[in-house]
Amino acid sequence: MKHVDHVGIYPGSFDPITLGHLDIIERAAKMFDKLIVAVLINRSKSPLFSADERVKMIQMVTEHIDNVEVVSFDGLSVDFAEAMGAKVIVRGLRAVTDFEYELQMAQTNRAMRHEIDTIFLTTDLRYAYLSSSIVKEVASYGGQIDLFLPPAIVPLIEARIREKKSN
Ligand code: PNS
Repeated sequence: MKHVDHVGIYPGSFDPITLGHLDIIERAAKMFDKLIVAVLINRSKSPLFSADERVKMIQMVTEHIDNVEVVSFDGLSVDFAEAMGAKVIVRGLRAVTDFEYELQMAQTNRAMRHEIDTIFLTTDLRYAYLSSSIVKEVASYGGQIDLFLPPAIVPLIEARIREKKSN
């Protein structure tokens, strides 16, 4: 019988990846043969980092996890999941404020692709308040961001914010 890998997909903006995202990736990777971290090429938002930069940053901080693959995608998450052979979408849930949006997204995705399920991992309490947007805000005012980000990401965001301010 042909061996079929059990593939999970973790889609998101990851602009930039935070310690909260990394924790979800580390935990989800244990649940699948392969975990694909899928970076959305955001059409409407103007991200701080390009999709390629975000992919490289995630690859850098997930080097220690063998079964993680990082790619960018455009379009619907369910279409990309299907193309990648993933039957499970992984999302992190921080607090009740995430719930409505996440539920709506999961239900819409399931309406479109009945065979693809969404599972939610509860964010580690240490990171329950964290978001990429908050980190960018703190960084833009020169605040301390090393509490929130994998160490390798800190100088990259500081440099990008300096660049933006000098333009
Ligand atoms: O990190 P984010 O910004 O909370 O991730 C949101 C993401 C990328 C998972 C969501 O916006 C998404 O899946 N976008 C792709 C387009 C899509 O599938 N939209 C329909 C979902 S109902």
